[in-house]
Amino acid sequence: MSVDRRALLLSAIGVSLGFAQDDPASVRPKPGDLLTKVGDAGKTPLTPNDIPLAAGYTAAWAMDPADNTVRSGSRLNQVLLLRFDPASLATTTREHAADGVVAYTSICTHNGCDIDQWLAKEQQLFCSCHESIFDPRDGGKVLDGPAPRALPALPLAIADGALVVAKPFTTPVGYERG
Ligand code: FES
Repeated sequence: MSVDRRALLLSAIGVSLGFAQDDPASVRPKPGDLLTKVGDAGKTPLTPNDIPLAAGYTAAWAMDPADNTVRSGSRLNQVLLLRFDPASLATTTREHAADGVVAYTSICTHNGCDIDQWLAKEQQLFCSCHESIFDPRDGGKVLDGPAPRALPALPLAIADGALVVAKPFTTPVGYERG
């Protein structure tokens, strides 16, 4: 490969990577971001009362409060919101919760499927790809199945009555390819 061609390719890769990093729809949720339900064309900011108490998850995206850019450009940004009695949460989980609402990535830490089921009786999250089970009241820890680590949590807070992101994900969102 000629020097010129190699330089051009490296430049193109750099531009490409830079674009991905700078795309506001693709960057990971940031502190201060609002949350809006997946599929809500009206981009309504969610409040704790929008999340059913101990009754499953609500899939959501973070949203830039400055211009309502929904950060749906990467599937790794999707989160699951759940609401519980704060007294039922483990200590660290309670610290990341807002009015009992907790948020976790929807990406299973095993092979990256979307977590897709709620076990109502057990109050647990279930990934049907290979049957991993996670405890949303205790840091998203793995209770069963091949998932190698807990679900990354997205700490929340309340601002003007709405749910907002308090801190970045507690651990990197991602998965191990089997
Ligand atoms: S991808 Fe979730 S258990 Fe395998």
